[in-house]
Amino acid sequence: MSHFVLTCTGCDAEHTVTMRVLECSACGCPLRIDYRGAGPAGAPMQVPLRRPAAALTLGEGNTPSIAMPAAGIAAGVEQLYGKLEFSNPTGSFKDRGSAMMMSALVEHGVGEVVEDSSGNAGASVSAYAARAGISAHVFAPDSTPKAKLRQISVYGATLHTIEGPREEAAAAAIRFAESRNVVYASHALSPFFLEGMKSFAYEVSEQFPGRMPDHVVFPVGNGSLLIGAYMGFEALAERGRLSRTPALHAVQAEAAAPVAAAFYDQPWIKAEGARTVAGGISVAEPPQLHRMVQALRATGGSAATVGDDDILRWQRLLAEREGIFAESSAAAAFAGLEALATRGIISPGDAVLAPVTGFGLKESPAAQG
Ligand SMILES: Cc1ncc(COP(=O)(O)O)c(C=O)c1O
Ligand SMILES: [Zn+2]
Repeated sequence: MSHFVLTCTGCDAEHTVTMRVLECSACGCPLRIDYRGAGPAGAPMQVPLRRPAAALTLGEGNTPSIAMPAAGIAAGVEQLYGKLEFSNPTGSFKDRGSAMMMSALVEHGVGEVVEDSSGNAGASVSAYAARAGISAHVFAPDSTPKAKLRQISVYGATLHTIEGPREEAAAAAIRFAESRNVVYASHALSPFFLEGMKSFAYEVSEQFPGRMPDHVVFPVGNGSLLIGAYMGFEALAERGRLSRTPALHAVQAEAAAPVAAAFYDQPWIKAEGARTVAGGISVAEPPQLHRMVQALRATGGSAATVGDDDILRWQRLLAEREGIFAESSAAAAFAGLEALATRGIISPGDAVLAPVTGFGLKESPAAQG
């Protein structure tokens, strides 16, 4: 008997634990992990692994949170902290999810996986696959920054560049997985990947023992960090280890804003040819849209959209005034914070945390789709 089950986030149907099923067979919604017991020893919080002590690791997590006073003044808040997720082994927060998902894949004896990505998740999955001896196929848009494509290849993954927007890469990955009967290790859908993201919340609660931040502002595409952090805060609250969950906010690029639209009950249709420099958050149809909106609403958070000019202005500002070279998708969170402060949703006296999700060297200066 496993100490957890896979439960549908839509209809609550339970599914046998397998690495091959990502959506409910009854209603098509994504699955979550529900724990039925403490599980094996070896991890401070519950994890969906049989042997947590033997989990794959490249030293991910435990990223620093540092004060960013100059950026705070520019955004209109007195207390701003950045959690430096680019300190993770492959330069982005995705390593939290990859470590957990790839560990589960190893436990299930999987030897080959398919993934699609705007770059960072692909690089991260490739690194952990290399470590695990699993062969990985990564599908990425051909507009992905060269540095990220190179990073995927250097770990030995087979890179498939696909013409067109991000959705084309996802569709090609699914076709490939089905035709070859290979496991689709989708970071956007895998409940194991999301479980790995919970550590972000655990670390925040340890790094801010006196006063938790009032707000956490996330750059959001598929929402893995937003949903994972929300689940982590919930798990801490259930154990009486958190007095209050911070308000969680989603920032999206104007060109790809389905979450912001859904939060404000507005329809959203991707404009033909709409592009953004922030390729990491450019997701037109995120499969976990409802869970994201629920996380924002349940915590008293909100959503904001930002244009490329503001994203690039914040990328420069963070580098020049804080010494932090964030990739554009990461800088978007700070542009969104400024927008939320301007709208009065975040007050000047509130304490705010934003993850710096990816390192600036991962992308070339030219715009990508
Ligand atoms: C640097 C960076 N920030 C934020 C995101 C958004 O993450 P998610 O799609 O899980 O919301 C990504 C996704 O690739 C990313 O690469
Ligand atoms: Zn269902």
